[in-house]
Amino acid sequence: MPMLKRRLTLFAFAVLLAAPLSAQDAEEPTQQDSDRYTFREEHDPNGIGKFYMGREIARVMGHQGIYWLERPEREREEKLSLLIESLELEPGMVVADIGAGSGVISVLVAEEVGEEGTVLAVDIQQEMLDALAVKCKELGIENIEPVLGTNKSPRLKPETVDLVFMVDVYHEFDFPYEMLLEISRALKPGGRVAFVEYRMEDPDVPIKLVHKMSEEQVKREASLPEFGLRWLKTVDKLPRQHVVIFEKQPPDADKEDDGGAPQ
Ligand SMILES: C[S@@+](CC[C@H](N)C(=O)[O-])C[C@H]1O[C@@H](n2cnc3c(N)ncnc32)[C@H](O)[C@@H]1O
Repeated sequence: MPMLKRRLTLFAFAVLLAAPLSAQDAEEPTQQDSDRYTFREEHDPNGIGKFYMGREIARVMGHQGIYWLERPEREREEKLSLLIESLELEPGMVVADIGAGSGVISVLVAEEVGEEGTVLAVDIQQEMLDALAVKCKELGIENIEPVLGTNKSPRLKPETVDLVFMVDVYHEFDFPYEMLLEISRALKPGGRVAFVEYRMEDPDVPIKLVHKMSEEQVKREASLPEFGLRWLKTVDKLPRQHVVIFEKQPPDADKEDDGGAPQ
């Protein structure tokens, strides 16, 4: 089997091993969920049949796919060093890697923010966090804190985070609206959130459709007024992904100047 086909097959296999959520993690749907999300019986086999703002939500990649996240050719294929550059990290920052998986990117970010900084590595699969803990121990890394989130919340404290990033993650959130609301709450005013997604616009990116997102779709979803996010820029220098970055606005940013009128 040619190399590329073999890799794609392996990825498809990893994706199909969808992460089983424990009863405690998987929160029950509410009435509001049914207004926000729609369900279809006929759908992409790599999706979950649940639709949000015009796209199908992808299956969560199971922890059995760790080998794919850790593959040695990832640097060549995805240029992780350029990805890190595009996040504009500074020593001392508090950064949340949501959907951290086994922590391939968390480790690179931890080095950039230094010992004064912190990486909050959030995932909903304990197995991913366990793999990350082993890695941190082996490498002697002390500034990564594992956080077990739920499919509706990353469980981060309000206004404590300078930068949230998600690499190949957002499109598989079961509850993207609820997650983004919580992410926005966790950001400090002026804090940033970066969506790193495989480019839907590029048919040559060898990733299944429901695991890709266009820049336009990311902007549409992140621009709902309740999130209080403003698009800052899109970095397009990676071979397969774009990095779509938003900034959290101060609470009254969209109010017009009333000239100091008392009412
Ligand atoms: C394709 S992996 C990417 C891992 C990592 N970002 C990387 O690039 O190496 C997606 C990860 O997102 C996690 N995930 C999915 N939904 C999540 C949620 N609501 N909150 C936190 N993590 C989530 C999955 O458990 C999985 O580990």
